[in-house]
Amino acid sequence: MKKPKYHVFICSSSRINGQQKGFCHSKNSVNLLEEFMEEIEERGLGGDVLVTHTGCFGICEKGPVVVVYPHNVWYGGVTSDDIEVIMDEHIEGGSPVKSLEIN
Ligand code: FES
Repeated sequence: MKKPKYHVFICSSSRINGQQKGFCHSKNSVNLLEEFMEEIEERGLGGDVLVTHTGCFGICEKGPVVVVYPHNVWYGGVTSDDIEVIMDEHIEGGSPVKSLEIN
């Protein structure tokens, strides 16, 4: 198995029992997850970028939260409109999107 160059974690508010319930989920993070995956496939980056949904990061008020490794960049308040810029500037360009970063 080839390890991904980027790993994108998207909070879907998954609970330990598998239930998705919480702030990021209420803000459509599951749709965000699907849209990220579609965008990655459309760009032919499926082998380089892995998307995983997660449980709560503990900063719900900043959600939906998206974390990108290996850069350890945390994005907050991410919407569908932000996916293209994250893909262009961070995933393909290598520079985190400062305006969306949680500091
Ligand atoms: S539910 Fe997403 S950070 Fe808490």
